[in-house]
Amino acid sequence: MSQLLVSVVSNERVLPSTYALTLDVGAAARDAVPGQVLLLRCGRSTDPFLRRPMGVGKTEGDTIEIMVQRAGAGSEWLIRLRPGDEIDCVGPVGRGFTLDASTQNLLLLGRGYGIGPLLGVAEKAVAQQKSVTLAVQAATADEVLPPRLLHPLIDYLVATDDGSVGYHGSIMDRVGELLPWADGICGSGPLLLMSGLASAIAARIPKKRAQIMIERRIACTSGVCFSCVVDTRRGLRRTCVDGPVFDSAAILWTERAA
Ligand SMILES: Cc1cc2nc3c(=O)[nH]c(=O)nc-3n(C[C@H](O)[C@H](O)[C@H](O)COP(=O)(O)OP(=O)(O)OC[C@H]3O[C@@H](n4cnc5c(N)ncnc54)[C@H](O)[C@@H]3O)c2cc1C
Ligand code: FES
Repeated sequence: MSQLLVSVVSNERVLPSTYALTLDVGAAARDAVPGQVLLLRCGRSTDPFLRRPMGVGKTEGDTIEIMVQRAGAGSEWLIRLRPGDEIDCVGPVGRGFTLDASTQNLLLLGRGYGIGPLLGVAEKAVAQQKSVTLAVQAATADEVLPPRLLHPLIDYLVATDDGSVGYHGSIMDRVGELLPWADGICGSGPLLLMSGLASAIAARIPKKRAQIMIERRIACTSGVCFSCVVDTRRGLRRTCVDGPVFDSAAILWTERAA
């Protein structure tokens, strides 16, 4: 983990409330893994006090892309950054998604800014000649990432809550039939969608596992404060050092996990 002053390469609006922010983080990008976390200071002062965690997405050379969705003051500050601006960054921290050499058919499931890290995994997998399906859920067509942002070899499955594009309903209706095909599964998105994925795997193909990115409030970022814990079969684990990516079968998908 390192603390760096990094510079903005580009900041492109990709959805009405979401920006793809590309940072030049130097050599730190070369070992960065999608699903790890960057802790960004979102201002020139100590307000907001806590750094905001953002998932590592696509990496290329010295750069890391993150998807920033407008939520409050911190993300608002991030989406206003312009090329050449500098930002105080700690990371990458934690454990990201791993890509097994034996995986041939990779299924990725996400929603919202959770798709950012999955795009990073997808690009690495395509470069290794793996077959990749990215399945996403969105509220409406307006919130569906344009296919131009995806590598052309990625199969893109979309479901919307209102049916304005793609399948009308839950993406889990489509993902269920892909589970037997997949020999690698990654998920990143709201807890309800992720627990649905874990349950579907447990019910249909109990020998398989997914890697799932779990979100908690992150404060100290160094494993000391325990503000970011998640319940697992082996007790409490800290998202900032033991995760944020966990084995789906290790998580206790109870209300306390929320
Ligand atoms: C492991 C992890 C990865 C994340 N990756 C992304 C990402 O790639 N892109 C993205 O847009 N967002 C991501 N988030 C969520 C993002 O960190 C919060 O939305 C952000 O902190 C909001 O800050 P804000 O000042 O804009 O809004 P605020 O108004 O301060 O907060 C809005 C909401 O964000 C959440 N939040 C606030 N502070 C924290 C914190 N320190 N840790 C965790 N959640 C917090 C709370 O639920 C709060 O209700 C991630 C969060 C975690 C834990
Ligand atoms: S944020 Fe303090 S232990 Fe994880």
